[in-house]
Amino acid sequence: MSVPPFDIDVLRSRIPLLEHLVPLNNCSQAPLTTATRAAAERYMESWGTRGMDWEGWMAEVEACRRAFAAMINASPDEVGVVSSVSHATSAIATALRFDNGRNVIVASGAEFPTVGHVWLAQEKRGARVRWVQVADGAVPLEAYDGAIDERTAIVSAAHAYYQNGSLQDVAAIARRARHQGALTFVDAYQSLGVVPVDVKAMGVDMLASGTLKYLMGTPGIAFLYVKGSIIERLEPTITGWFGRVNPFAFDATHLDWSPHASRFDAGTPPIFAAYVSRAAMEWLLEIGSSAIHAWTQHLSRRLVQGAEARGLTVHGPGLAAPKTPSTAIVCPDSHAAEHGLRERGIIGSARGPAIRLAPHFYNTEADIDRGLDALAEILRT
Ligand SMILES: Cc1ncc(COP(=O)(O)O)c(C=O)c1O
Repeated sequence: MSVPPFDIDVLRSRIPLLEHLVPLNNCSQAPLTTATRAAAERYMESWGTRGMDWEGWMAEVEACRRAFAAMINASPDEVGVVSSVSHATSAIATALRFDNGRNVIVASGAEFPTVGHVWLAQEKRGARVRWVQVADGAVPLEAYDGAIDERTAIVSAAHAYYQNGSLQDVAAIARRARHQGALTFVDAYQSLGVVPVDVKAMGVDMLASGTLKYLMGTPGIAFLYVKGSIIERLEPTITGWFGRVNPFAFDATHLDWSPHASRFDAGTPPIFAAYVSRAAMEWLLEIGSSAIHAWTQHLSRRLVQGAEARGLTVHGPGLAAPKTPSTAIVCPDSHAAEHGLRERGIIGSARGPAIRLAPHFYNTEADIDRGLDALAEILRT
């Protein structure tokens, strides 16, 4: 495929940054669009002219919850609105008991550190984290076989590895967890927006993501999917007034739980971020996840093959295993490489031993070639 299944010129005209830069850093922060700028201005307008509009603001948060639910094929009642993936993970962690014969948390070295940290913090409460190792830049599925057993409370899996975009087969991991009576928690922050995600088809119990990266939103908001049938079993001790049946009941002496995943909400919702993230997700839904997936997979192949053709070393399994468009090129000083790219008008994202080039639907083949040519030049000098 050398032509995207959408009118890329029209879509590109809605991203002003493209006039002077080539953003290949969507694994870190995707660019502002005319839609997200207009949404931010709509909030400013409402704040500036109405002073406050709680009703309108809450309606916006609910619309954002619905947009996220649509992104993952869930019901809005199965989606909590939180402030970060760390918050989402903590909400789940604190709702689990570790004194009932199931105290093992299985997680892998491909977790974004924050998720690992939340699980480790539960060791004070009697949990034990059992790590599945990354091997050659990816987590082998078989490694879960020995790790998940009848003592496992939950299996935590990053859908895509933040380091190099390699994807885990979370449906297969969830099957293994279910077989042992354990729950599955998925961090989809590095995949959602470029890889179609269907929580029902995947069979996962919980899934979290923020919106900075391929969802093209802002910091300050994240979402937590919890499968409808297990919501009422879980009572997080990280909570607040928005987790109640009626947040506006104003009774400090009574703790009840929303029957929906809003029981995982906590304090005043991230209203401003909800305006922006709703607009971002609605745009992505309009373009369509399979069209975005098809084009970004094409760019991903061009990145890996183009890197190899230029003598660059790709971190991890490359095209030998499923991956997001994020492609990591090994380099001696990834921060210097990021600066070098910036000087040449390209935004990459340094991470540990590699620089990540992570295109989205609006990137072209020419963007990929320009990014790789620049990187090859930087690494030659
Ligand atoms: C896969 C993944 N999970 C989680 C995070 C961070 O989540 P938060 O800062 O919202 O807690 C990141 C951020 O880079 C990430 O890449």
